[in-house]
Amino acid sequence: MKIRKRKYPDIFYNPISFMGAALASISFGIIIFLIIFEALEKNPKPYVGIVTFVVLPAVLIIGLLLIAFGAIRERRRNKRGITARKDFPVINLNDPKQRTALIVFSLGTIVLLFLSTFGSFKAYEYTDSDEFCGTVCHKVMEPEYTAYQTSPHAKVGCVKCHIGSGADWFVRAKLSGSYQVYSVLFNKYARPIPTPIENLRPAQQTCEQCHWPSHFYGEKKITNTYFASNEENSRWSMTLLMKIGGGHDETGVTTGIHWHMNINNEITYTSLDKRRMVIPYVRSVARDGKVTEYRTTDKNISDKMIAAGVSRRMDCIDCHNRPSHIYHNPAVSVNNFMSVDDIDTELPYIKSTAVNALEKGYSSKEIALDSIKTFIENFYEAHYPEIAREKKGSITQAVTTVQKIYKRNYFPYMNANWRSFPDQIGHMYAPGCFRCHDGKHVSPEGKVISHDCNVCHTLLAQEFSDNKIEFSLNGIEYKHPIDIGDSWKTTPCYVCHAKK
Ligand code: HEC
Ligand code: HEC
Ligand code: HEC
Ligand code: HEC
Ligand code: HEC
Ligand code: HEC
Repeated sequence: MKIRKRKYPDIFYNPISFMGAALASISFGIIIFLIIFEALEKNPKPYVGIVTFVVLPAVLIIGLLLIAFGAIRERRRNKRGITARKDFPVINLNDPKQRTALIVFSLGTIVLLFLSTFGSFKAYEYTDSDEFCGTVCHKVMEPEYTAYQTSPHAKVGCVKCHIGSGADWFVRAKLSGSYQVYSVLFNKYARPIPTPIENLRPAQQTCEQCHWPSHFYGEKKITNTYFASNEENSRWSMTLLMKIGGGHDETGVTTGIHWHMNINNEITYTSLDKRRMVIPYVRSVARDGKVTEYRTTDKNISDKMIAAGVSRRMDCIDCHNRPSHIYHNPAVSVNNFMSVDDIDTELPYIKSTAVNALEKGYSSKEIALDSIKTFIENFYEAHYPEIAREKKGSITQAVTTVQKIYKRNYFPYMNANWRSFPDQIGHMYAPGCFRCHDGKHVSPEGKVISHDCNVCHTLLAQEFSDNKIEFSLNGIEYKHPIDIGDSWKTTPCYVCHAKK
């Protein structure tokens, strides 16, 4: 009995091929739905591409394979003489049993379709959350996520800086998002993850959406407390007035770091390395169009090397390269915890012991946490047995605090720490500003990129371990905490302070 002529060869009319066809068309439908939905969305989500371009197409292909498999199986059966059932079952709606079955089936399908649409929408939303960015590839992103959670931008979503609106960036995010999933699945990722400067959107489109450069701040006072590596952990402090500045011709304040660097001048530079640590050539174009070219006087750098370097227009991220993923130098963290008495400053040599315990280059977090404990406890048992007994509580607390510092700042599995991701905002633990402001970048007219200690900040006050205070609103002459002669004037700070 033939009802009508079939459009496709008979072998396609079998249950397995039907199932495959259903699977393929549903996933195809959802793909189209997501693509349209995303195109209309104002803030497209970065990782939904994984679902749209990886997961669903996989389902679609499985569907297509099922169609083929069903057809081949059917042909084999035909050859062996097993005739397939050629017709659809006849549904008799007058039969109460069949009627109920049909109603249950149809309602079930509708509910299922509704739920799966809702589900894929929810999945879509989830790919945008910080939780997804930070934890789905847990081990891989652990350093960035941990640092982010305690940063000033902990409430700013990952996607606010890493991806944003605009079709161009949307496609780039999509591609790199899918690549990231691939690299995690196949263990192909670099440790540590390389900094994504090329993949970040221009600062005007991220940072400047929230921070308005023409409306920058006056001055910011920073007070740092330090402890020396001697038996008494001698304490002193330094107060700096950072000349942040900024402004606009019409609003008045037109001074300071942001004004010179960002608003009044357009600065382009050439670096020799991808991480932009060595900057031999800088070009500044002032508002009136005056061009000044600065070149390092370092004899080891030839013009040929500079010509082969990478050029970039300077923006926020060249100074604020760690706005969110900040890994602290151990001296900074230990000083901070000592200044609030979370580490007892009466413990002899605690500053240097804590710093040494952190900097041993452990191969895993577990080993690190154990070794920190034994290292500190052994130190006091061996050198100060009495203190080890009397101040047992203080030592235990010091151990816990140092372990906390470790967990927050060192990630051996990913090779992430303050050395692999130097913070360029200052000049103590990374070249930072001194990449250009080392007093050795000179223009043909003899202009030097300033190295004066009071040009970026005013050294307002310095308090020494004997409680003597030096103070001046016009800036004091710097005195290095321990006597190193004049070498702080000639050797950049980070050369000694970021030494292994
Ligand atoms: C305030 C802006 C901002 C936010 C918010 C932010 N990042 Fe970043 N991220 C950056 C900058 C800037 C860099 C480094 C750019 C450079 O130095 O080239 C970076 C670098 C990274 C890197 C590369 C490795 C590294 O440390 O340099 C990863 C991975 C990363 N971010 C993941 C995340 C994740 C996951 C989140 C959310 C939990 C997040 N980011 C939130 C600005 C941000
Ligand atoms: C979605 C809004 C948003 C974006 C995008 C954003 N920030 Fe911020 N930023 C903030 C907020 C809010 C604070 C204040 C946090 C606080 O005071 O606790 C802040 C604080 C800061 C601070 C001061 C940190 C401190 O130690 O006090 C700096 C520097 C900064 N942002 C730089 C950047 C840079 C560079 C970028 C681009 C990579 C950026 N921000 C992108 C909202 C944003
Ligand atoms: C030449 C280097 C440099 C550039 C370029 C730069 N900044 Fe800054 N910025 C600084 C320094 C230095 C500070 C003060 C030190 C600190 O807060 O740690 C600062 C402070 C800030 C602060 C904190 C202000 C406060 O009162 O706490 C914000 C916000 C900020 N910058 C945003 C930006 C944004 C957005 C851009 C890009 C348009 C930018 N900066 C470009 C060096 C720079
Ligand atoms: C890529 C090179 C480069 C880096 C890195 C850099 N600067 Fe500059 N900076 C310059 C140049 C070039 C000038 C001089 C502009 C001109 O020609 O007047 C300048 C000028 C300044 C001035 C004005 C100085 C004066 O004599 O009035 C300040 C303040 C300043 N920079 C602060 C900073 C701070 C703070 C940092 C680090 C957070 C920094 N700069 C990092 C290149 C750099
Ligand atoms: C090009 C600008 C610039 C110049 C020149 C400069 N500094 Fe700084 N300095 C900074 C910035 C930026 C910071 C970081 C502020 C912060 O902690 O956010 C800083 C931080 C410091 C600190 C605190 C360090 C810390 O992290 O504990 C000291 C001390 C200091 N500077 C001394 C000096 C001395 C001494 C000189 C002269 C040899 C000098 N600076 C020249 C920009 C500059
Ligand atoms: C020739 C090497 C050398 C140079 C250059 C140098 N320092 Fe130091 N600095 C030391 C030594 C050694 C100590 C003592 C270490 C300790 O006590 O923990 C020290 C200690 C310090 C401390 C207190 C300890 C702490 O907690 O970090 C500060 C602050 C400091 N130096 C700032 C600077 C600044 C700012 C510059 C650049 C203007 C600079 N140093 C340049 C060798 C140097």
